[in-house]
Amino acid sequence: MHHIQHRTLIVGNWKMHLNVAQSSLLVHRLNQRIKAHRDVEVVLAPSLLALQPLSREIDRRKFRLASQNAYHKDEGAFTGEVSYTMLRGLIHYSIVSHSERRLYFNETLEVVRDKVTACVRNGIAPIVCVGETQEERRQGETKQVLHDQVTSALANLTADEVAGIVIAYEPVWAISTFGGEIAKPDDVAVALAYIREQVAGLYGDHVAASVRILYGGSVDENSVRGYLDVKGCDGALVGSASLNYHRFSSIVEKAHVLHS
Ligand code: PGA
Repeated sequence: MHHIQHRTLIVGNWKMHLNVAQSSLLVHRLNQRIKAHRDVEVVLAPSLLALQPLSREIDRRKFRLASQNAYHKDEGAFTGEVSYTMLRGLIHYSIVSHSERRLYFNETLEVVRDKVTACVRNGIAPIVCVGETQEERRQGETKQVLHDQVTSALANLTADEVAGIVIAYEPVWAISTFGGEIAKPDDVAVALAYIREQVAGLYGDHVAASVRILYGGSVDENSVRGYLDVKGCDGALVGSASLNYHRFSSIVEKAHVLHS
């Protein structure tokens, strides 16, 4: 299938790590090591608390920000929540439906769809995480799970809107903190092609060629190139290795292939 070449997207998901001062320090260290590359887009997803200060500190030629979550209503009596509307202007992207949110915070397909819709309504590109659990994989249900997750998450979007989002294939069994089995690039290739096919079936070839699809799960400085070389892979979602500035800057360096 035809596929538009984008800048390689490298997303660091810091999860529930680093307070504001620690986040600033990590950005400072990354800034010293990472150069602006025209073929790589680097996105950092710190805690919600660190987004505002980091938005003032980052070099915008090198880094963009993402939230790890937010609430799907724009405003109202929802004690304790932060909305995508409030994050508008601070972030370019938001990770949605990460497997930890599905597992620990009961994010159902409906919740995910509402969040994806709210992101797009607020001018934020969702990074929609999909992927099967170990059990689903054993039962041979991977394709069905991916089909259901993709179809449901995008259901409220127009074709044009879908063309601008990001999908991250994250097999739950390959996430470092869930067991960290290493996914083979060949298996990743099959899953990415399947996801792109689903998008083509629902929204047409043109949209499928534009949508960016990432791989995530135990990506580090040694494995990243192998995943980025998978046909149709537009980048990587990095957890653990994104908290270490040596490792994350090395991942960005390996993603950079155009030498100007
Ligand atoms: P990992 O996490 O890189 O530590 O496996 C990836 C993720 O959970 O997004």
